Amino acid sequence: MIDVAFTRAEVRPAAVAVVIDVLRATSSIVKALESGYTCVLCADSIERARELREPGRVLAGEQDLVPLEDFDLGNSPEGFERPLGEELILATTNGAPTLVAAADVAERVLVGALLNLDAVTEALAGEEDVQLVCAGTKGRLGLEDVYAAGRISVALPGARTDAARAAECVAARYPTPYGALSDSEDARALAGVGLEDDVRACARESLSEAVPEAVTDAEGVALVTCQNQRQNSMKTQPNLACNL
Ligand code: MLT
Repeated sequence: MIDVAFTRAEVRPAAVAVVIDVLRATSSIVKALESGYTCVLCADSIERARELREPGRVLAGEQDLVPLEDFDLGNSPEGFERPLGEELILATTNGAPTLVAAADVAERVLVGALLNLDAVTEALAGEEDVQLVCAGTKGRLGLEDVYAAGRISVALPGARTDAARAAECVAARYPTPYGALSDSEDARALAGVGLEDDVRACARESLSEAVPEAVTDAEGVALVTCQNQRQNSMKTQPNLACNL
């Protein structure tokens, strides 16, 4: 069955879970692994991320969308163009804890974003028990995540839940990814703190072939790696406007 969890609270055991936080955590993870970080350690809290700090590790994340003072980076995808160390530690409000929660119960967890939409969809071929997990925002659904879940769901064969059908309806409503993202509360919140460019960056579709996978590493920590990673393989997109 193809299913969609609209928020982290709906995460359940599944053969494959795809965690989606388009604005911005899973988009940032795809970028970070593409740029050459060997792994991303997702922490379920800022305090836990601080405990993971070590030489060679870069600390990234946000609180109320903005970078923390003692962190090396925020959560803007452009911050991950080049690796500043070997491993990335990421603490975010919704995406990182959702990855931790899914890794605790699903047999396999993939990291989904619009940036790697086709690659993730292809990786789900033949899977019959799939939960597309929208990270949402503080317990409420995020339109941009539901849009991406609907795009994946509609491309998969087989039976689906009403939640998956509802996500597909949302996806069908928007002719472009940017249209869906810019209509979301999260996009407005990012614009409110001067980060509207991040919305455009996260709306780019299928530039990456990376299919990152997450496993539980320790309590409250998910280890994300990418077996099919090809460093710096993000396709260039000279005319960004064509995808908006
Ligand atoms: C999150 O995980 O809460 C989000 O990615 C928030 C953001 O940084 O935009």
